[in-house]
This record gives sequence, structure tokens and C-alpha cells, in this order.
Amino acid sequence: MPRSSPRACAASWRRRPGDTAGPVPDLGATLRDAVRRLRAAGVDGAEGDARILLLAATGLDRVALIRDPDLPVTPEAALRLEAWLARRADREPVSRILGRRDFWGLGLVVTPDVLDPRPDTETLVAAVLDGLGARRGAPLRLLDLGTGSGAILCALLAELPAATGWALDRSAGACAVARRNLAAHGFAARSLVIQGDWAAALAPGAFDAVVSNPPYIESAVIPGLDRDVREHDPLAALDGGPDGLAAYRLLAADLPRLLAPGGVAAFEVGRGQDGDVAGLMRAAGLAGITTHPDLAGIARVVMGRVVP
Ligand SMILES: C[S@@+](CC[C@H](N)C(=O)[O-])C[C@H]1O[C@@H](n2cnc3c(N)ncnc32)[C@H](O)[C@@H]1O
Repeated sequence: MPRSSPRACAASWRRRPGDTAGPVPDLGATLRDAVRRLRAAGVDGAEGDARILLLAATGLDRVALIRDPDLPVTPEAALRLEAWLARRADREPVSRILGRRDFWGLGLVVTPDVLDPRPDTETLVAAVLDGLGARRGAPLRLLDLGTGSGAILCALLAELPAATGWALDRSAGACAVARRNLAAHGFAARSLVIQGDWAAALAPGAFDAVVSNPPYIESAVIPGLDRDVREHDPLAALDGGPDGLAAYRLLAADLPRLLAPGGVAAFEVGRGQDGDVAGLMRAAGLAGITTHPDLAGIARVVMGRVVP
């Protein structure tokens, strides 16, 4: 949505003499009303969500909201916001409503074909960059297994200017979204998106870093998840089998074949899965296993490496 200046937005909706309509809502009052409505519907994070939706509906930025809370909201913007608030109150995530999400400072397209990338997954990006250490400027070869929107690979390519990345997903829809995001950020020439069943089709010994945020939720838990997740993230992005570890077993066992000497592997894990996943990496022959907490202090990433 194009951004307009506060004054342009205000100018497009001015009360004329003789108008009989009710009071023109301003930004501040509209925001307060939106927060009230989302809170009443029991939406977590109502204030942040209301602010994002109001700014998107008006095409304004945060600064306008702080500086000019008395700016009038146009009828078109009010209608847009009205529809979006109803969808949010019905538990559709903001990123689904707007079709975009920020990840690692990059704006990404998200569609119903992909997992809504979570801030926790930025822990994986940070851990891998840390694990690569002095090699960050080298022409590294990266592999993102189960790429979804391409979020992880986009973030890594943004930080590793000489690297090349392979993004793989079983879902054709996800591959299309990943391609779109990689191209939008200028990484088309440094990346290849492949539709496939994990890494079966890939050549051995080729990668300096293998990363994955695989499906890791226990199948039996899925029906009890929040509606925001259960009804809007693809099942194939969530379901990790009976104990949540099905994908890790396959992926960890394949790491020695995929990684080049000295290569690192990092997996995002669900709460309490770090010990099991570290054990799977160790059993596959990886060394130097470390775990990395997310901002809530939960062990979120397990990383290991192939000793040269
Ligand atoms: C939890 S999502 C992660 C998406 C993205 N990497 C992220 O962090 O936002 C897991 C992804 O793995 C993909 N996937 C599931 N099973 C797969 C398989 N057997 N082979 C390849 N990809 C698979 C799903 O389609 C989904 O996009």
C-alpha cells in the first residue's frame, strides 16, 4: 500500500459546510476504538495489532500517528479498517490480513501456502551467523530445508554477501512464495528454489551451512492450538508426527552426507525438544553441539558442526 503524507490523507477528507454526517473520526480516537474492539474479542496483543492495521488502512506511518493524532480518517480508510478488524477479531493473524510480515528487518510476502514466519526464528539466523564466525565473508553454500516463505534464507543472504543459497520445500505454493521473496530482495541470482522431499535429491558434501525450521508440533496437540495458528498456518508446516521429532530424525541423519568439512547445521526446535534434537545430531556424528535461547529464554536452536 503506498504511503501518503499526513497532510495528503487529511486533505482527502474534509468536512464541507452543510454536511450532515456524524463527527469525523480522527486517528487517535479510531485507534482507541480499534484497540477496544480487539480486546473485547479477546485478541492477544490488541494494541499492537490495532496500530499496524490502522497504519496500513490509512497508508500513514507511526510518526504521523504520534505527531498528528487529530488527523481525520477518510471513509475509505475507515471501511478498510472495519473489515480488517472483523477478520482479526475472528482470529486471522495480521500478517495474513495484510499479506506481509517483517522478518530480520526484511518485508516478506506471506500467503496461505506458507507458515507465518515467527520472530523466534530470528534466533536461528543469529546463531548461524555466529557459528560461521570469520567465514562470513566467504563464498559459502547454504541450504534451507523446508523454506516456506524463504524467510531464513533471505535473512542469511542479506548478511552473507558472497553466499549462495538453496531453498527447498515440498509445497509448490511455498516454493513460489520463496522465489518471490528472494527476488524482491535482490537474491534471485544467488539462490535456487527447489521443490522436493527434504534433501533426497541434493548432491553430497555440498553445503557449508544447513538450516531448518521443520514442522515440530506433536500431531495430537494440533487440534488444541490457538485458532490463529490452527486455521491459518498450513498443516504441513506444523505437524511433526506423533512425538514432534519425525522431521529431525530424517534431517539429522542426512547431515553428514550434506555438509562440507567444517560445515554447520542449525535446527529450530520446539519447547523442550533441544535435548532430543541434540542427541540426534550427536548420533549422526556432529560435534560441538550448542543450544541457543530465544528472547523468552526458551532453548530455540540446536547447532552442531562437522569436524574437518
Ligand atoms: C515450520 S515451516 C518453516 C517455514 C520457514 N522455514 C520458516 O521458518 O518460516 C516447515 C516447512 O517445511 C515444509 N515441509 C514439510 N515437510 C517437508 C518435506 N518432507 N520436504 C520438504 N519440505 C517439507 C513445509 O511445507 C513448511 O514450509
